[in-house]
Amino acid sequence: MPRWNYKELDYDGIKVENIKDNKFLFDILCVASFIEITSDVYEGNLSKFYSGDKDLTDWLENDWKEEEIQHGKSLKAYIEQVWKDFDWDKAYKNFTKEYLPLCNMDNFQDSKAKEMIARMVVETGTSTFYKGLVKYSQDLDEPLLGIIANNISKDEIYHYEEFEKAFKKYNEEEKLSKTDIIKILYSRLKEVNDEDVEIAYKNIEEKNDYEAFRKTVKKFAKQYYPYNMAVKMLMKPLKLGNFIESVTASTAHQALKIIGI
Ligand SMILES: [Fe+2]
Ligand SMILES: [Fe+2]
Repeated sequence: MPRWNYKELDYDGIKVENIKDNKFLFDILCVASFIEITSDVYEGNLSKFYSGDKDLTDWLENDWKEEEIQHGKSLKAYIEQVWKDFDWDKAYKNFTKEYLPLCNMDNFQDSKAKEMIARMVVETGTSTFYKGLVKYSQDLDEPLLGIIANNISKDEIYHYEEFEKAFKKYNEEEKLSKTDIIKILYSRLKEVNDEDVEIAYKNIEEKNDYEAFRKTVKKFAKQYYPYNMAVKMLMKPLKLGNFIESVTASTAHQALKIIGI
């Protein structure tokens, strides 16, 4: 079960005046809410992939899925409180028409340990994104946004840690080399700014310009994205010594910038 309850938050206390004209904030919250709230489909696919591992599939169903869906619900509640004219349900319905057919297992890795690395990359992406949002909320002077983003970021770190445990368990058998792991990290990183964000974005408003949005995301990342936290999390499965870690970290840092996060 989720460890916090989005219904207990004070949506009436949002400082609406400080953010209501912030189109970028509206866009990123919508994109995030769409993807998070659809996590039940991913849970189904993951549970199928790891069937037989009861501890893991129980956790996916009872904790991971519930927490991810709550992320989406809390963002939806926030959006509906601030941008009352926006028809979230209608936009979400259009999004799912395009998005659900793509939610299959085609993009899964070919082994259980490898897929866990892919999951760790995704949780790295989400935990660091929300951490950036916490910082952004301080500049916007909108505390509830900060509270929600902080709650979500902590959940994503917890997910990362659980996936890391499962990775270690499966890797006792698979014994992936550092080269194997780096390959997966790079291939997953390339997919970070991928079609799910684009599909979500295009379904928020008809006349949206995705390229312009990406440029603004880059600007946001430059100012708020916690690169060091991301690099540390990404490098963890490699179990490198301090020296090599610092060398590899600067390379990874560059890689993150190139791919635009
Ligand atoms: Fe999430
Ligand atoms: Fe997560």
